[in-house]
Amino acid sequence: MKKVLLISIIGIFLISIISLFSQEFNYVGAGKCKICHKTEKQGKQFPLWQKRKHSKSFAALTTEEVKAKVPDAPDNPECLKCHAPLFEKAPELKEEGVICEVCHGPGSMYKKLSIMKSREEAVKNGLILYESAEAIKKQCLTCHDMAHEKPFDFEAAWEKVKHPVPEKQ
Ligand code: HEC
Ligand code: HEC
Ligand code: HEC
Ligand code: HEC
Repeated sequence: MKKVLLISIIGIFLISIISLFSQEFNYVGAGKCKICHKTEKQGKQFPLWQKRKHSKSFAALTTEEVKAKVPDAPDNPECLKCHAPLFEKAPELKEEGVICEVCHGPGSMYKKLSIMKSREEAVKNGLILYESAEAIKKQCLTCHDMAHEKPFDFEAAWEKVKHPVPEKQ
């Protein structure tokens, strides 16, 4: 009996070590970011996002007009890859469209206040930040590079969707 107990203790110990080292960052959805990123002081990132079409990019595939042209659009990977980019990695968030985490990385680990408060800790826990305008543009172009044959004016587009934290006085 003692032997069985010992083996199971060792087993549990090994499993916890393995899970500690293979910690995965998971997608949590925009509602989780909203809790802190909605106030004037923080920069209203959530309400700003909600006003823009990135929050409605999946809905765009469900209109009567689209249905007439591409009946399977809401399930078609050829549309989903830009309009519902998490459709494979986090199918339950498919309908949320181009959410925060599409650009900032999966938030399960960095969304804790104690981690978010430190830029360095947040980045270690999966937060993606961009060092330059070039790097931002590259991210946009993963979807906007002549999408629907339309050219992309990066400066104008970024002006529309940027959401900075206000300068501290
Ligand atoms: C518990 C509160 C909280 C939650 C939840 C939260 N954040 Fe934050 N976040 C903060 C705070 C506080 C800061 C620091 C802001 C500052 O610099 O004043 C921050 C900063 C950031 C920054 C800027 C980092 C930098 O240094 O430039 C990004 C990007 C960000 N959060 C994205 C997200 C995303 C995406 C989510 C959802 C997955 C999220 N946050 C969830 C509180 C939170
Ligand atoms: C390469 C990325 C990409 C793919 C693939 C893609 N789209 Fe789009 N789609 C976009 C972007 C970006 C816009 C916004 C263009 C703009 O406003 O400048 C857009 C706009 C639209 C709009 C207009 C929505 C509105 O609010 O006016 C519809 C409808 C649409 N796409 C349907 C589709 C369908 C259906 C498919 C699949 C057959 C598809 N898209 C595939 C990126 C893509
Ligand atoms: C994962 C794909 C994806 C990425 C990455 C992406 N977009 Fe979009 N964007 C879309 C889609 C899809 C639409 C069209 C949504 C619709 O019309 O319903 C869109 C629409 C827009 C629009 C027009 C709608 C509006 O609200 O005015 C702007 C501006 C825009 N994107 C800017 C950007 C910028 C700037 C970046 C980079 C920081 C970026 N996008 C990154 C997919 C993406
Ligand atoms: C289309 C891509 C995209 C989406 C969607 C997006 N962001 Fe960002 N976000 C960026 C980029 C690019 C920057 C500026 C460059 C950087 O990361 O340093 C930024 C900056 C920020 C900052 C820091 C601003 C500063 O002044 O330092 C915060 C906080 C933030 N985002 C939170 C959010 C939250 C919360 C959401 C969802 C409600 C969101 N973002 C959605 C691309 C995006």
